[in-house]
Amino acid sequence: MAGNTTGKIFAVTTFGSSHGRALGAVVDGCPAGLELKEEDIQIELNKRRPGTSKLTTPRDETDQVEILSGVFEGKTDGTPIAAVVYNKDADSSAYQNLINKPRPGHGDYCWISRYGTYDYRGGGRGSGRNTIGHVIGGTVAKKLLETLDIKVVAHVTQVGEVKANPVNINLIEEYSQNNAVRCADARAAEKMEEAILEAKSKGDSVGGVVETIVLGAPVGLGEPVFDKLDADLAKALMNIGSVKGVEIGFGFKVAESTGYGINDEFYMEKDEVRTTTNTSGGILGGMSNGMPILLRMAVKPTPSISMVQKTVDLEKMEDTEIQIKGRHDPCICPRVVPVAEAAVAMVMVDHMIRSGFINPCQIK
Ligand SMILES: Cc1cc2nc3c(=O)[nH]c(=O)nc-3n(C[C@H](O)[C@H](O)[C@H](O)COP(=O)(O)O)c2cc1C
Repeated sequence: MAGNTTGKIFAVTTFGSSHGRALGAVVDGCPAGLELKEEDIQIELNKRRPGTSKLTTPRDETDQVEILSGVFEGKTDGTPIAAVVYNKDADSSAYQNLINKPRPGHGDYCWISRYGTYDYRGGGRGSGRNTIGHVIGGTVAKKLLETLDIKVVAHVTQVGEVKANPVNINLIEEYSQNNAVRCADARAAEKMEEAILEAKSKGDSVGGVVETIVLGAPVGLGEPVFDKLDADLAKALMNIGSVKGVEIGFGFKVAESTGYGINDEFYMEKDEVRTTTNTSGGILGGMSNGMPILLRMAVKPTPSISMVQKTVDLEKMEDTEIQIKGRHDPCICPRVVPVAEAAVAMVMVDHMIRSGFINPCQIK
C-alpha cells in the first residue's frame, strides 16, 4: 500500500490535495448503527480550519463537508463512509515563484525528487490541508469512543519558550476552548498569543507542544509484540506534518530516572486496580493499563515564513533565494489540536475493534 490508509480494521483512506478539486476520506470498517451527520464532522473541521482568529492564516476556507455514502437514515450502515470537502478559497498565484524552488523546512524537495512531478500549489498533498481527511476519520472514531464513555482531548502545553502550568485533567477540555491558542492555562495562553504574534510580526513562525489525553480507555488495548498501542499512537502522531517528536508519559525523562523513582505502584480504588502515579502514560507492555493515556508531540515552527531564505533552483541547478508570499499560520499548534485528537481516536478505535471492545458489525 502507498501510505494513504491507516488502521487494520477501522481503516481510513484519505485523498486530495491543497489546491486540487477536493479533499476527503473513506472510512471503512465502521460498525453499523452509529448516529452520524454532516454537522458532527463539520464541528470538528471548524476547529481545524484557518481564518478563525488572528493567530491563524486569514485564508477563509469554509471547508464544508458532504457525506457521500455509508449513512442510512442518520446512522452508519456498515458500508464505507465517504466524505468530501471541496476546495473553495484556493489562491495558487502566491505559489508561482516557488516552482522548482523548494521551500526550506517543507517537503517540496523530497516530493519533487521522489515523483519527478509536484503540485507546487499550496504544497499539494504534502500540505497541512490533508489533515481534513484525518479529521473526517477521527470524528467517526471519536463518536464510536463516546458510545463507551471514552474521550480524546488535546491541548497546547507550550508555544516557543512559554510553558503552561498543569491543569486538572478533567478540566482541560473545557478550559482549552476558552482561548484561540487552545491552552488550558489561561495565563500561559496570553503569553503564548504574544509569542505567536511577535513571530508573525517578524514574518517568522514558532513551534510548540501539543498534549493528547485519552480518558476512560479499558485495560488491555494493543498488541503485545508488534502493533503495540504506544507504537501505533506514536506513529499516528508522527504521521501529522510538522510533528518532530512524540513522548508517552514521562517520555525522555525516563532516561534520567531510577526504577523506584518512576515505577507506577498499584493500589485498589474501590474494586479497580489503579496506579499511584502515571509515568508510563497509561501504557505498559504495549497495552493500555486503564490509567489516562498521555501523549505529547513536538510541533515545529511553520516552515513557510515570509523572510527571505536561501534555496536552489532545481531547473537551473544553482543557488537562489525565495520569499514566500502565501497565507500561512505563524504557529501550527492551535490548528493541530483537532488533528491530534483525530489521529489518536482512529488508532484507539482500530485497537478497540481488534481487542473485542467494539463489535465490528454493529453498535448495540
Ligand atoms: C494543521 C496543519 C497546518 C499546517 N499549515 C502549514 C502552513 O500554513 N504552511 C506551511 O508551510 N506548513 C504548514 N504545515 C506543516 C507542513 O505540512 C509540514 O511541515 C510539511 O509537510 C513538512 O513535513 P514535516 O514538517 O513533518 O517534515 C501544517 C501542518 C498541519 C498539520
